[in-house]
Amino acid sequence: MSTTRTENDGKARLDDMKQGVLGEPLPRIDGLAKVTGTARYAAEYPIDNCAEGVLVTSTITHGTVTRLDTQAALTMPGVIAVIDDSRLITRAVQGTAGEAPQQAPVTVCYWGQPIALVVAESFEQARDAAKRIHVEYDASPNPSLSPDDVTPEEQEDDTVSQGDLEQAMKDAAHSVDVRIATKGHASAAMEPHAAIADWDGEELTVHASLQMLNYNISELADALDIPEDKIRLIARFVGGGFGSKLGISPDVVAASLASIKLKRPVRVVLSRQQVFQCIMRRSETTQRLRLAATSEGKLIGFGHEALVSNLPGEEFCEPVLQSSHFMYRGENRELMLNLARIHRMTAGSVRAPGEAVGMPALEAAMDMLAEKSGVDPVQLRLMNIPDKDPENDLPFSSHKLAECLRQGADAFGWDAGPRKARQRREGEWWIGTGMASGARIHNTMESRTRVTLSADGTARVETDMTDIGTGTYTILAQMVAEMLGMDPAAVRVDIGDTRHPRGPGSGGSWGASSIGSAAFLACRAIREDLAARAGVAEEALDLRDGKVGGGRTLVDVLGGESLSHEGHYKPAKAQEEYTAAGFGAFFAQVRVNHFTGETRVDRMLGAFGFGRVLNRRTARSQFLGGLTWSIGTALTEALEFDPRDGHLVNCDLAEYHVPVHRDVPDLDVVLVEERDAIASPIEAKGIGELGMCGGAAAIGNAIYNACGARVLQFPITPDSVLASLPRDSCKLLREAGAMRGLA
Ligand code: MOS
Repeated sequence: MSTTRTENDGKARLDDMKQGVLGEPLPRIDGLAKVTGTARYAAEYPIDNCAEGVLVTSTITHGTVTRLDTQAALTMPGVIAVIDDSRLITRAVQGTAGEAPQQAPVTVCYWGQPIALVVAESFEQARDAAKRIHVEYDASPNPSLSPDDVTPEEQEDDTVSQGDLEQAMKDAAHSVDVRIATKGHASAAMEPHAAIADWDGEELTVHASLQMLNYNISELADALDIPEDKIRLIARFVGGGFGSKLGISPDVVAASLASIKLKRPVRVVLSRQQVFQCIMRRSETTQRLRLAATSEGKLIGFGHEALVSNLPGEEFCEPVLQSSHFMYRGENRELMLNLARIHRMTAGSVRAPGEAVGMPALEAAMDMLAEKSGVDPVQLRLMNIPDKDPENDLPFSSHKLAECLRQGADAFGWDAGPRKARQRREGEWWIGTGMASGARIHNTMESRTRVTLSADGTARVETDMTDIGTGTYTILAQMVAEMLGMDPAAVRVDIGDTRHPRGPGSGGSWGASSIGSAAFLACRAIREDLAARAGVAEEALDLRDGKVGGGRTLVDVLGGESLSHEGHYKPAKAQEEYTAAGFGAFFAQVRVNHFTGETRVDRMLGAFGFGRVLNRRTARSQFLGGLTWSIGTALTEALEFDPRDGHLVNCDLAEYHVPVHRDVPDLDVVLVEERDAIASPIEAKGIGELGMCGGAAAIGNAIYNACGARVLQFPITPDSVLASLPRDSCKLLREAGAMRGLA
């Protein structure tokens, strides 16, 4: 039996279920396969007769390719072909939307853009030959390389103007008007982008490392101009994505084009440098924050403007102001987002697009306001939480910021007494604390999944949804086990294959709440069938450990048959009548070295309210990841472009500094559990990105509290700390005797 179930009656009843496994800290069901190396990632599938492809990339920033000389490469040992199909190039430029294939001459839009693929019998042969491709260019003499080079375009959808902010700034007892810059970020997923494409003359099968197969299949069909039903995408394990695998990448298109042309399987794995150079980046930002407050610290004015960049023609615009629209009070408001068109690689979604850089800047400004007004930073946030969305008057679906602030402050041991910088020191290390609020908008996406309850009392759940390290496998097993009353070990989770119903993909933190809701709806339909068979109302159905109640088992009630339903979750219209977001509070203690400007995070804590917890262990792990990203944003992560030719300078993990083990101290996570009935049928919101939406400011504010250096940029590098240290710092240290023997 198969039906589709879409409606959400708002009554989750998940809390009435008897198995008691949802929310429990179940270890990952895919964990053993991962740690023993049996989990296969895209490039690891053993496929006979597989040729190897290596991309050739541009060495100019803007211009046209006038000649591609492949002669030398083609005569090298093992070389099979050079693919310079224009579809490869078009897709290499585009981050998201599809357009008509580009015609020759090929336009180069950024340094490192793929322009051809060399295919050979071995990887080494292909790599060697790729170096012998001679490319001639007609380079533009003066490409725009930095946002300072161009006049930006205003993004009208993000512009808000209410009341009179200028006047509020004049009337304010305390005000802050500050400019803060953030550098660009890379997703830096552990697994490089990779694909094996296999065209059998009828159908194209592609093993790829992608986040959103439901969408990627359409993109690939569009790029290759073949119907979707001729394509099968498989991504059972993905080694991180963080946005960089939301859309199809050049490896997928290039491998597919080559396989179709050569009629044999072709593998393309991007080098780490290529991942940095041609996969989307997070835009750098410059932001202006204006806060106007009464003498008690109550906001009467709120201004947030940002300038970001992208390639000409690209749609994406880092949504820096996304949560600023509803974060705090202030009846006089000015928000504005501007986009500069420049020739760096495509800017797109990198973990928590918008808030990841918008919230830290806002929260740094809030810290400055706390200092000016003499209000405790936690108290300042508490008194400025709005009752409703201040711009459109919509109610919040749920709002746990106050609880996060209070519980977080408690758990961290926040000292609400008067604050002054440079009060604690150990030798040459200044020690301080800081905090910040956080928010991330909540989204859900249409999702389908099939759940089958087999005659033997086991279950199977099937969807093209991916698990990019987040825990999808595990929470789906828990959801089905909870709803159907069985051990999660009796649930087989079969995901990451476009032969299955279309899920929501992993992106924007919508994965768990969306696919979880689809699984929930499928299970509810199965429960109704079971109830009919058992002769009771669905609400009275008491399922636990494979038993139906009254001494009967699931196997008895099924009587040799299986039940299968497809759950189809569609975001409800009612969701549009609310502002929905996850909230959090971050606390950090840091030490800053007086002589080197180096910052060490001593400890960090985040408290988060995000709806129902589906698995306390995977939820906590997501937040640990977010806090780690917060440390990277605060201290080390920055894409650096050569101002002369626009090429990315630090394009590997030695030079692009993600926090390593030594950079990450004890991290504490407080889960402020709630039920958000508006957010999704399972009352859950997103988690993945929330942990880095504001956290960097807790560290920056702690640096200020420690040593008095107010650095108005992220990352806060040692040189920037030294440049911002108050002049009398050395004197203070000398007086304290800390410089004895040093000066
Ligand atoms: Mo996310 S940046 O939508 O993977």
